[in-house]
Amino acid sequence: MPIKSINQDKCTACLQCYKDCPASCFVLNEDKNQVIYDKRQSCILCGHCIAICPHDAINYKNLKDEPITFQGVQNPQELIPYKTLHEFLMAKRSIRQYKKKKVPKNDLDKILNTMRYAPTASNVRSLKCRIISNEKKIKELSEAIVNALLSSPNVPKLYKNVLKRRLDYHDDIIFYEAPHIIIVHSQNLSDMTNATICITYGMLAAQTLGLGTCWIGLAFEVLRSDKKIRTELAGILDKVLGVFTLGYSETKYYRTPPRPPLKVEGLEELD
Ligand SMILES: Cc1cc2nc3c(=O)[nH]c(=O)nc-3n(C[C@H](O)[C@H](O)[C@H](O)COP(=O)(O)O)c2cc1C
Repeated sequence: MPIKSINQDKCTACLQCYKDCPASCFVLNEDKNQVIYDKRQSCILCGHCIAICPHDAINYKNLKDEPITFQGVQNPQELIPYKTLHEFLMAKRSIRQYKKKKVPKNDLDKILNTMRYAPTASNVRSLKCRIISNEKKIKELSEAIVNALLSSPNVPKLYKNVLKRRLDYHDDIIFYEAPHIIIVHSQNLSDMTNATICITYGMLAAQTLGLGTCWIGLAFEVLRSDKKIRTELAGILDKVLGVFTLGYSETKYYRTPPRPPLKVEGLEELD
């Protein structure tokens, strides 16, 4: 178990780890003045005890990473004002025209580094990413996906006609000739929500680096259901949970399109 114990020389029994642990791994001694790590409980490795301890008193090992402290970690609202974040999100567009330019590996590393901080249910961390950057491979995959969609009895005729029309003005109507596609996969189908959040983190990180992205639900549907395309063309044996394109946008957007308000109930109670 990576969490080993509490360093009692450092611990001031502030009880923060005891109160914050979602798996109730900490107990109090009989006099209720000392916190003890109960090894019999099932730690879910969320690391909250490490994060919350003001005195760095949690002993652990084998977490495959080290805690990081930085200015703003205690007051995240100071890192990014609401208006900046809101406008950043409003300005995010799904990019469907890409420059023929690869993303430097260093920037890909940054995006992947952000993705690993996405929350996961029960703290299970089993997501994997397959990056495909070979132009020929992307084209092959795109064509196989188009053929699968056009021949599928499950795709409505109306939608097939839309796809065919798009073939008139896009060589690649699936990945839009993006220089990279990123496929998130896992052995666990229960990772679906985790993958969705993880991809969203990656897309937002990409935008800070001047890069554009687009969710590719069409590719997801085919890769999820067609074993031959998934294994032979994408080289993935796991379950595919999400797909997005990545690259430099060829376009600019001058305004955020209208978005209707969310249907909300309960807000009026706060008047
Ligand atoms: C789950 C999901 C799947 C999507 N799949 C596709 C897709 O296969 N192809 C595509 O061009 N856009 C796809 N999109 C992008 C949406 O169509 C896009 O969000 C919408 O057009 C609004 O544009 P915006 O993202 O620029 O605001 C998908 C978006 C989501 C969230």
